[in-house]
Amino acid sequence: MSDTYGASVTLTVFGESHGPAVGATVTGLAPGVPIDLDFMRAQLDLRRAKGRISTARAEADEVRVVSGMYRGAATGTALTLLIENTNVRSGDYAKTATLLRPGHADYTAYMKYGGHQDARGGGHFSGRLTAPVVAAGSIFTRLLREKGVVIATHLARCAGVDDAPFSDDPAERAAQADLLNRADFAVLDEARGREMTRAIEAAAARGDSVGGVLETVLLGLPAGLGEPFFGSVESTLAALFFSIPAVKGVEFGLGFGFADRFGSTANDPFCMENGRVVTATNHNGGINGGITNGMPVVVRTVVKPTPSIYIKQQTVDFTARQNAELQINGRHDPCILHRARVVQDSLAAFGVADLCGQHFGVRWQEGTAWNMD
Ligand SMILES: Cc1cc2nc3c(=O)[nH]c(=O)nc-3n(C[C@H](O)[C@H](O)[C@H](O)COP(=O)(O)O)c2cc1C
Repeated sequence: MSDTYGASVTLTVFGESHGPAVGATVTGLAPGVPIDLDFMRAQLDLRRAKGRISTARAEADEVRVVSGMYRGAATGTALTLLIENTNVRSGDYAKTATLLRPGHADYTAYMKYGGHQDARGGGHFSGRLTAPVVAAGSIFTRLLREKGVVIATHLARCAGVDDAPFSDDPAERAAQADLLNRADFAVLDEARGREMTRAIEAAAARGDSVGGVLETVLLGLPAGLGEPFFGSVESTLAALFFSIPAVKGVEFGLGFGFADRFGSTANDPFCMENGRVVTATNHNGGINGGITNGMPVVVRTVVKPTPSIYIKQQTVDFTARQNAELQINGRHDPCILHRARVVQDSLAAFGVADLCGQHFGVRWQEGTAWNMD
């Protein structure tokens, strides 16, 4: 069983939705790397449940740093972050505890852990585990921004509504990324965002849920990051994104859109621009042969509709071994995307940090420039 990921830096997550706390441990931080708790809070705030489009479970998400930090910076030993669960209503789950939620991990958890799992509120499979991911990821997001790397995600599609695309102009795209990173509901076109919100609310009013697509851009990455085979940029980011509960697909650049292209319209022609090698198009999403080519990395995930819905569903009572009807109580997100986008940013930042460590060595974390020499 592995709740740990990474090579040059590692991230471990632990906890259960209705246990005392959830948390994360990070290793491989260089001594002196800033642990900016204000920035950490701001990032957690982007994931916080707000309004009718999110769960009614409101958590304070106060982070306690229990190891690895001294005077606001990393010591270089394991850094552990704890976030207490303060708003737990396990009674909501008691009546339906043996009824398997379709689309959730109740059945697979039973099969793997034989009943020893803490099933309350989804236990270890809950979206709650993504709070410490965001807290830990904020350290890498901040570090990368100092090097000029900006990561941003928008709801490219939600509840059947498309957002506007990112601009092709680098300055405009950077401004868009900046806006997204401060927005509660991360869209490039506010009118489309309002349409999405209305569609989420309408589904929620029917007791249903919706899904969509999150698109992330990674701007300012140097060419040459990543490994040619198992440690490719695609494999690293995909492994991390598939750990986000409810993510069911990942594609880079044109992704599945390559299927019907000819080579002549799929390739990205190279050209010189201000003394730099660039590509005229970016169908490959900034990655060739598993390695960054210096163009923006573009990656999309598909996030399924929240499995816990309030509409009656057909299921099985696992203990009685018979068919049953399930009427879910509890508090649930009618849509996951607007909360998950900062989780995606955080894991992207962690993945890039890991690749940087493998490429440049741990000293890349020091100073403000890339320490490549
Ligand atoms: C931020 C976030 C919030 C989530 N909230 C809920 C929720 O309220 N109810 C629910 O059933 N699933 C929620 N999920 C999704 C489930 O945790 C996930 O679907 C489940 O663990 C099964 O995993 P799978 O969908 O990856 O197969 C959430 C996921 C994330 C990332």
